[in-house]
Amino acid sequence: MPGSPAGGDAASGHVVVRRCTESDVAALEAGEPPGSGYARGAFARQKADAVDFLVAVVVDDGSVVGSAELTNDEPPELKNLGVDDAARGRGVGTALIRAAELIVDARILGAGVGQRALVVGVGLDNPRAAALYERLGYRRTGVQTSTTYGYVDAEGVTHTVTERDEELIKRW
Ligand SMILES: CC(C)(COP(=O)(O)OP(=O)(O)OC[C@H]1O[C@@H](n2cnc3c(N)ncnc32)[C@H](O)[C@@H]1OP(=O)(O)O)[C@@H](O)C(=O)NCCC(=O)NCCS
Repeated sequence: MPGSPAGGDAASGHVVVRRCTESDVAALEAGEPPGSGYARGAFARQKADAVDFLVAVVVDDGSVVGSAELTNDEPPELKNLGVDDAARGRGVGTALIRAAELIVDARILGAGVGQRALVVGVGLDNPRAAALYERLGYRRTGVQTSTTYGYVDAEGVTHTVTERDEELIKRW
């Protein structure tokens, strides 16, 4: 829901989920390895209306502890879900997924039951993330995709990785 900062808000204890702002990008960049450029790129995709770039923010100090991108595709896909190591296991990932579902709700207000859908791709080597999604109502489709992407590690070294994902989908 481009332009509406409130549309995907979801609270999880002391963490709130909302669309990323310019100042969040600055904070995210400070924690990225040199040359990563991920937050800046995701923010540019949001500006181009290709995604909602969601961030999970600690209310007390404004720090960003997780993020995800909700695409404007049909059906939409939730991509690049990640929560900082130290913040895992406290419901932040769940709050990001729920916030994305609320945005999907708002995009198609008045849709009938079963007409809303959200797709996620989960690595075949990531059963814990698959378990989280299945607990939230996502179903395995058996559809596998292969994604090749580059990332920069903590030492600033770029790696190219090919990951095999299975698509999961939730309809409601
Ligand atoms: C997956 C992830 C986003 C979950 O965030 P979170 O804030 O820990 O999630 P919640 O607290 O809402 O839920 C906890 C559940 O997440 C899953 N989880 C926890 N740690 C995880 C990890 N290191 N990797 C994958 N899944 C994990 C488990 O299902 C866990 O439930 P359990 O404790 O009963 O096993 C987070 O662990 C992460 O960033 N992992 C690395 C990146 C990743 O795997 N992204 C998902 C791509 S589809």
